[in-house]
Amino acid sequence: MNIVCIGGGPAGLYFALLMKKLNPNHQLTVVERNRAYDTFGWGVVFSDATMENMRIWDPETADQIESSFAHWDDIELQFKGRTIKSGGHGFVGIGRKKLLNILQSRCEALQVRLVFETEADSDADYPDADLIVASDGINSRIRSRYADVFEPDIVTRPNRFIWLGTKKLYEPFTFIFEKTEHGWFAAHIYKFDDQTSTFIVECPEAVWLAHRLDRMSLDESIAFCEQVFANNLQGEHLMSNARHLRGSAWLNFQRIKCEQWSHFNGRQHVVLMGDAVHTAHFAIGSGTKLALEDAIELTNQFKLAGAVKSEGGQGDESPAGIEQIPQVLQAYQAIRHIDVLRLQNAAWNAMEWFEVCGERYCDQLEPEQFMYSMLTRSQRISHENLRLRDKGWLEGFERWFAQRARAQVLSQTQAQPDAKIGVGAGEGAKEKSPPPPMFTPYKQRSVVLKNRVVVSPMAQYSAHDGVPGDFHLVHLGARAMGGAGLVFVEMTCTSADGRITPGCPGLYNDTQREAFKRIVDWVHSHSDAKIAIQIGHAGAKGSTRRAWDGIDQPLQAPQPAVPEGEQAWPLISASPQQYLKGVSDWSREMNRDDMDRVLQDFVAATHRAAQAGFDWLELHCAHGYLLSSFISPLTNQRTDDYGGLLANRLRYPLRVFAAVRAAWPQALPMSVRISAHDWVEGGITPDDAVNIARAFKAAGADMIDCSSGQVSKEEQPVYGRMFQTPFADRIRNEAGIATIAVGAISEADHVNSIISAGRADLCAVARPHLANPAWTLTEAAKIGYKGVVWPAPYRAGKPQMETLFERERAAREA
Ligand SMILES: Cc1cc2nc3c(=O)[nH]c(=O)nc-3n(C[C@H](O)[C@H](O)[C@H](O)COP(=O)(O)OP(=O)(O)OC[C@H]3O[C@@H](n4cnc5c(N)ncnc54)[C@H](O)[C@@H]3O)c2cc1C
Ligand SMILES: Cc1cc2nc3c(=O)[nH]c(=O)nc-3n(C[C@H](O)[C@H](O)[C@H](O)COP(=O)(O)O)c2cc1C
Repeated sequence: MNIVCIGGGPAGLYFALLMKKLNPNHQLTVVERNRAYDTFGWGVVFSDATMENMRIWDPETADQIESSFAHWDDIELQFKGRTIKSGGHGFVGIGRKKLLNILQSRCEALQVRLVFETEADSDADYPDADLIVASDGINSRIRSRYADVFEPDIVTRPNRFIWLGTKKLYEPFTFIFEKTEHGWFAAHIYKFDDQTSTFIVECPEAVWLAHRLDRMSLDESIAFCEQVFANNLQGEHLMSNARHLRGSAWLNFQRIKCEQWSHFNGRQHVVLMGDAVHTAHFAIGSGTKLALEDAIELTNQFKLAGAVKSEGGQGDESPAGIEQIPQVLQAYQAIRHIDVLRLQNAAWNAMEWFEVCGERYCDQLEPEQFMYSMLTRSQRISHENLRLRDKGWLEGFERWFAQRARAQVLSQTQAQPDAKIGVGAGEGAKEKSPPPPMFTPYKQRSVVLKNRVVVSPMAQYSAHDGVPGDFHLVHLGARAMGGAGLVFVEMTCTSADGRITPGCPGLYNDTQREAFKRIVDWVHSHSDAKIAIQIGHAGAKGSTRRAWDGIDQPLQAPQPAVPEGEQAWPLISASPQQYLKGVSDWSREMNRDDMDRVLQDFVAATHRAAQAGFDWLELHCAHGYLLSSFISPLTNQRTDDYGGLLANRLRYPLRVFAAVRAAWPQALPMSVRISAHDWVEGGITPDDAVNIARAFKAAGADMIDCSSGQVSKEEQPVYGRMFQTPFADRIRNEAGIATIAVGAISEADHVNSIISAGRADLCAVARPHLANPAWTLTEAAKIGYKGVVWPAPYRAGKPQMETLFERERAAREA
């Protein structure tokens, strides 16, 4: 086979040598515009795992790389005058030039033809090739030529970066953050040989412009960076080796993805590889890894096709024929695009972290928590993963976190002198090692929660005439004994016509209040959990059937055959609306009288909640219900003072909030649940959510419970582990108000990571609590944390559960 690789970067060179090795009869040519043994760029980084893979495919190259690379385990942060280091991260770094030289000489040894100083204009320049590999990097001409086939998706990111080097040697992988009068700069620094370190400087576009870096020459930019990082550089210089590049030396990262990776141009097959087909931000330093692994996989597919071709699968070096190229290219894309996507997602998270850290984290977080947040930025590294990497560092962090939590709780000491607050309380008193962050206490106003787990509100559709009964006592009682710090009652409605279904509870009469008081008293006397109520009005989403009889389906219109309590009632909301098009009943627009009446109902329900003894109250402003219908532009088309801009749409929910806050005891906390994203074009966005949170904060809210969606059936949510946590993170760190994260938080590891990184203060867990009321106790045993206190009558079960999980862990490790 005659193969031409356009571009002699890591992808083209490594593929050429692997294919030549697979079958020396193949003709392989690499065409490179630069001179032989000449390249720009400093060091590149990849993981130990990539090295192992390379060793399998070509030990000669792996040996040479290994003897040249710098290996390091530690990551160091220099921030606000502090230096924090953690180990166990396992990277290798090598000069890009050194890497290419090794690949070039190996190509020569295997008789790959290397053609330097030749600009390939197009694949048409090589009519005799059977296969053209477009390994021509991020600005691939071949990709542009067939853009309609490859369908590249190119996103240019807002941060500016400059790729510099220095003779100062940094032993750990080092991150430095420095604040200037216009904002924060970050440096990513790693040594790649015994004389040089890579030094990438990054900042947001606005900071870059404010410093007039757009007008500075390369030398001026270097001098500027030397000044910003002078404390660290201590007279050492920064250098550039990209003087040949035209335009600003400051670049914007471009994320590239392609729908299609290969194409038949009428004469031959063309396939994209490396940066030409995908890029990954340097924040997780994996572009070279991806390029090398592409080369390995394409070779592997040729090898497999050859093995299939030769009889009985023997002789796996049998050459795959030209006729097999289409299937090989298809398999290459099918396999690689999944791995690439996974890595691109992680790289995206890491990149976004660096884009927002100046605004969101640098000023807000203390160095310990900032380090944790930075280490977990790609969201691939979790709490327990950090423990595996560096147990000592993580325990130090946990100790620091526990002390902070304790200080926060003790800040108003007299409020609850006998409160059980984790470390130093109950069984926890005997612990030597610190509690995981999930099990640290938390305080809002006078209420101390023993840990960070919340049983999220979940409608149970089991009330009669709005009165909670034995079902609720057992349901909530079991969850209160199950270890969570705070247990929420489901959405409890402020009027009969504010219910979602006839099975929803209410607080609009004294019978309901007394029924709730029985439950609250039980929880207080049999557990150390706190109990919260969520009050709301269903608005246009009311008058529907219990979930198991058809969720969101309207009740039947009043008629003699339908029992009275099951008959539909009229609906109100911000604007006329039919939640399920063509199915739901229409709501009518609320007038001022409706608004006054509903507000009074909220206040009355609040008084009853206080009389029932609840510890915490949440105002439900999410999920398309009545108050939410005012906030979202999708459901509010009012032309009066309560419609239009967000500030107007918030007016009624804020009025209700203020009235409820005034009626609710000052010593007790109030949270507000919002839909932080409508997931619909034209709806509420996470940007809006920050402003919504600011407005409720200004009105006196203590916390924002960050849910999303359920406002419109047009929604297109992007689900995944902890998928709503980014909203809690943003609101907490941009609006400066405590948050509750919720949504697909299903393990202690999730809770620990979220709380530790300062993405939220509490984690609400819903569906897992339906399956297991003792979710918190179970998760504690799973991670081997013994400091959690079980209800006295259940204690015999604790050591047994701990032993069973211990055995499971040991078996897994073995
Ligand atoms: C600041 C920064 C830091 C980075 N850090 C890391 C890191 O730490 N770890 C990591 O793994 N990756 C890193 N990368 C990314 C990494 O450099 C690339 O992902 C990797 O080099 C991709 O390899 P490639 O072979 O696909 O493309 P390239 O390395 O870009 O090679 C393409 C080659 O094609 C040649 N070429 C292009 N067009 C033509 C043409 N028409 N004719 C002839 N020749 C042509 C070019 O001269 C070039 O040599 C970093 C990138 C940047 C910008
Ligand atoms: C059966 C059920 C009922 C729910 N009822 C409510 C409710 O009354 N109020 C509310 O704000 N959210 C309600 N939710 C949403 C949950 O509180 C939570 O936000 C959501 O289920 C995501 O969390 P999870 O992934 O842990 O389940 C309900 C969820 C479920 C599964």
